[in-house]
Amino acid sequence: MIREKILVIGASGQIGVELTLALRKIYGNANVVASDLREENDLLHGTGPYVSLDVMNKEMLHVQVIRQNITQIYLLAAILSATGEKNPNLAWSLNMQSLLNVLDIAKEEQIRKVYWPSSIAVFGPTSPKQNCPQQTVIEPITVYGISKYAGEFWCNYYFQRWGVDVRSLRYPGLISYKSAPGGGTTDYAVEIFHEALEEKTYECFLEKDTYLPMMYMPDAIKATIELMEAPAEKIRIRTSYNVASMSFSPADIAKEIQKHIPEFSITYKPDYRQQIANSWPQSIDDSVARNDWGWQEDYDLQRMTADMFKNLPHK
Ligand code: NAD
Ligand code: SER
Repeated sequence: MIREKILVIGASGQIGVELTLALRKIYGNANVVASDLREENDLLHGTGPYVSLDVMNKEMLHVQVIRQNITQIYLLAAILSATGEKNPNLAWSLNMQSLLNVLDIAKEEQIRKVYWPSSIAVFGPTSPKQNCPQQTVIEPITVYGISKYAGEFWCNYYFQRWGVDVRSLRYPGLISYKSAPGGGTTDYAVEIFHEALEEKTYECFLEKDTYLPMMYMPDAIKATIELMEAPAEKIRIRTSYNVASMSFSPADIAKEIQKHIPEFSITYKPDYRQQIANSWPQSIDDSVARNDWGWQEDYDLQRMTADMFKNLPHK
């Protein structure tokens, strides 16, 4: 049996913390090396190895991969949609160069598997709004979306040309209670829970009827691990898979929160993120992922909200 040694890049971020902890449960603490540019997240502290690493420094990354005998890489470092619009050059440079560095090293060192997430942000105003399919018109309007779409084709290229087993999901907006989101347009759906508990009121930066595809973090972690553990012959999409579990608007989630905190109120003050949200689909057709490797979510809006309120107060 192959002894896996996994490197998670961007492990202190919203997804990285939970994914690292989940991978450590499966592969053993010592076999999952967490790395990030910023300091180790408190939740990772004492649970396994951590290295400080800048993914833009290819030499440093290459040395770590060889020194640690890495067999799989999860690349999570990126600049997300809202922050990306404030500094498009930096977003393009990090989102592209990090992926090319990882793919090149994976090719050279014959890394067994690479994971790199794409996003619903690949879709643009000309994509279908409802049940947006796996293959469709894709004309993103954010630098983040452009970088994700280009990245998908780099993944496909490295797989087709050099056999690098790189796998990818187009995550929707992710909602979590363990780690904070890092500058996306869907971040309101996490902030709203904190404000509901602390202030009983929330001023939302999107309009009340802005529907977006969303997913609870346990489902995102489950999808990621199931995709990575699926036999290679089941992975027919080598760009990135659509995955979905729920779609809701700020008004919908506010109503669900009111079932737990009746006095909670919401106001709306849309900012530049409204235009980004308007450009994305409202719901996603993920039937290809369901058929190819059996994707199935566990959480809808009701179950997720109940679980957030069960866990958040203890944080
Ligand atoms: P995040 O911003 O919370 O975390 C990213 C991490 O990368 C941070 O800890 C940051 O310090 C680290 N990082 C940044 N530059 C680095 C560098 N040069 N070297 C090493 N580390 C660096 O992001 P996230 O929400 O955890 O997203 C992870 C991935 O998932 C990204 O590719 C993102 O585009 C994708 N994604 C996220 C969502 C979501 O809702 N969170 C949705 C779709 C796709
Ligand atoms: N949640 C992410 C964002 O809003 C989607 O990729 O940027």
